[in-house]
Amino acid sequence: MRKPMLAGNWKMNKTRDEAIEFTLATTKNLPCECKVDCVVCAPAIILRDLVKRAEGTNLHIGAQNMCEFESGAYTGEISPVMLKDTQVEYVILGHSERRAYYNETNEHINAKVKKALEFELKPIICVGEVLEEREANKTNEVLKTQTVAALEGVEITNPEDVIVAYEPVWAIGTGKSASAQIAEEACGYIRSVIAELYSKELADKVRILYGGSVKPANIKEYMAQPNVDGGLVGGAALKADSFVELCQACAE
Ligand code: PGA
Repeated sequence: MRKPMLAGNWKMNKTRDEAIEFTLATTKNLPCECKVDCVVCAPAIILRDLVKRAEGTNLHIGAQNMCEFESGAYTGEISPVMLKDTQVEYVILGHSERRAYYNETNEHINAKVKKALEFELKPIICVGEVLEEREANKTNEVLKTQTVAALEGVEITNPEDVIVAYEPVWAIGTGKSASAQIAEEACGYIRSVIAELYSKELADKVRILYGGSVKPANIKEYMAQPNVDGGLVGGAALKADSFVELCQACAE
C-alpha cells in the first residue's frame, strides 16, 4: 500500500515570521506519520528555519526548485548541495510555473531529477497539460512525453522516494479543479507509463498526486480514487487550519 502524501506548495508566499506561525499552528495537529506524509515546500530563504521547527514532527520540508548544477557561476540559483545542507527532504521539480515563466525544459527537469536523487532529495516531479492540449485530446501524449523525459536514464532504487504530481495547468490557481474522474484517469495513465519504463511492481510503489485547486471541500473525492495518492496544493495549503484539514483527509 502506498502511503498518502499531502504536499503544500507555498510558491512565493510567506515571510519567515508567517512561516514560523504556520508551524506553531500545525505541527501539533497533524495526523500520525504512519498514515500520511505531510510536506510543505517553502521559499528557499526560510527552509532552514522551517526544518529546525519541524524537527520531530510529521511536518516535512521541501524546496520548490533546484539548480541541476552543484556549484559555480549560476547567479541566483540554489544547488542540491545547498538544499542538502539545509536538511530538506523534498524538492518540487518541473512545476508548470517554472516551465512557463522560466523556460524550464524537459531536459532541465531530467537533469534536476538525476541530481536530486544523487543528493538523496526526494523529487516531486510535476507533469500536466495546458487547456488547448486537453481540448485537442492530447493529454496522454503530453503526460507521456513529460514523464518519459523527466525519468530518462533515471535509476530508481527507492520508488517510495520518487513522487509524480499530475497538475493540469488549467486547474492551477484557477479555482477550476479537474473532476475526480479526470484526475484518476491521468494518474492511472502516468502509472502505466512508469510501469512501461520500469516495471509494474515499481510503478505500484510510486506515489502519484493530483494538484490543481485542491481544497478541504474536494480532497476526499480525489483520495477515493485508486490511483490518486494525495495532493499537491497551492492556495489551500497557505492557511494552517486548511492545511491540517487536508492532511487529515488524506489520513482517513
Ligand atoms: P493551487 O496550486 O492549489 O493553488 O491550484 C497547485 C500547484 O500549483 O501546485
